[in-house]
Amino acid sequence: MKAEITLLPGDGIGPEVLAAGKDVLETIAQKFGHTFEMQEFLIGGCAIDAQGTALPEDTLRACQRSDAVLLGAVGGPKWDDPTAPVRPEQGLLGLRKELGLFANLRPVKPHPDLLDASPLRADLLANVDLLVVRELTGGIYFGQPRERRSVNGEEQAVDTMVYSESEVRRVAHLAFKLARGRRGRVTSVDKANVLESSRLWRQTVSALSGDYPDVLLEHLLVDAAAMHLLTRPATFDVMLTANMFGDILTDEASVLSGSMGNLASASLGETKNSFDQPKGLFEPIHGSAPDIAGQGIANPIGTILSAAMLLRHSLGLENEADAVEQAVQTAISNDHRTTDLGGDLSTSDMTAKIIAGLGVPQTEPVMNE
Ligand code: IPM
Ligand code: MG
Repeated sequence: MKAEITLLPGDGIGPEVLAAGKDVLETIAQKFGHTFEMQEFLIGGCAIDAQGTALPEDTLRACQRSDAVLLGAVGGPKWDDPTAPVRPEQGLLGLRKELGLFANLRPVKPHPDLLDASPLRADLLANVDLLVVRELTGGIYFGQPRERRSVNGEEQAVDTMVYSESEVRRVAHLAFKLARGRRGRVTSVDKANVLESSRLWRQTVSALSGDYPDVLLEHLLVDAAAMHLLTRPATFDVMLTANMFGDILTDEASVLSGSMGNLASASLGETKNSFDQPKGLFEPIHGSAPDIAGQGIANPIGTILSAAMLLRHSLGLENEADAVEQAVQTAISNDHRTTDLGGDLSTSDMTAKIIAGLGVPQTEPVMNE
C-alpha cells in the first residue's frame, strides 16, 4: 500500500512524541512492505509564531489531501494570554471542524501490569475496557453566539451549548455500531435534568436505540457518570458523550490507565480517503505538557497507540495495528517505563523498546507442485 500521512507535531512535547509515532509507522512500512509518505506541517502555537494563524492554509490543504493525519499536541503558556486574538487551540478545533470529524474515539484499557500506577485500587481496575465516543464538532465548543459583550456597563461573556438532532444521531449511530463489536452496552451521558440540549440528546439517543435491540442502553447524568467512572469503571463498555462532557470525562478516565500519557484517540467523520476508509485525525489525549517539554522524557505510548488507530481506522491495516498494540503491551510487560509511570526511560528509549518488539508478518507457505 502507498499512503499519504500528514504529520502535525505542534507544540510542547508534541514534536517529541510525534517523532516516536513516525518511527513506528516507518518501521511498520518496512516490515509489511508499505510506503507511507509523511510530510510535516505547522499547527497551534508554532504556526501562530511563524504565520500569525493557528491553522495555516497549507496545513489544512495537506490534511484534506492526505489519507490520515497524526498530531502531537497544541498550546502552551507562551500563547495563554486570555485577551490574545489567536490561540493555539483554534488550530485543532478548526481542523476537527473543517475535516468534519464529528466522532472522537478514546479507548481506556489499563494494562494489567500498570494497575498499581493508578491512584485507584487495583481491584476496581481489573477488567476495565471502555471506549468513550465523544461528539467533537458541536455543543458548547462551537455554538453561536460566543462573544464578549457589555451589559449594564459590565463585561459579560457567553458560550452556547447547542445540538441538532442530526448531530446527535450520527455520533449515536456510531456508538451503537461500535458497541455491537464489543460487549453490547452503551451508556449515554448528559445533563438532562437541567439542560434542554441534553433533553434532546437523551430523547434522540433513546429513539435511535430501537434500531439496535441487541445493544443495552443506559442513561447517566454527567455528574453521576464522573463518580461511577471511579466507583465501577469495569461496568462501562461504550460511553457516548457530548463534546465538553467527553473532554472532561476522558481526562478523568485516563487516570484509570496509570497515566494520561498512555491514551490514544481517533477522530472520524464521513469523508473517505483514497482507500475508501474514513479519513481521520489521530492524536494522544494528553496536551503539550510544557512542564516537561524539551527534556525528551514524555511518554510516547499515547501517540504510538494513536498511530495504531490510524493504521486500523484510516488505512484498514488491521494486522499492522495489532502488531503495534502488541508491541506496546509487550514493552510494558517487560517493565519498560517512562518517568510518568515510575520508570526512567527517555521517550526515544521507550520508543526503541516498542519498535524492537514489532513482529514481522507471517508469510504464506509456498506449495510445491
Ligand atoms: C482534547 C483537548 C482539546 C479539547 C483542547 C486542546 C482544545 O483538551 O483533545 O481533549 O478540549 O478538545
Ligand atoms: Mg481534553
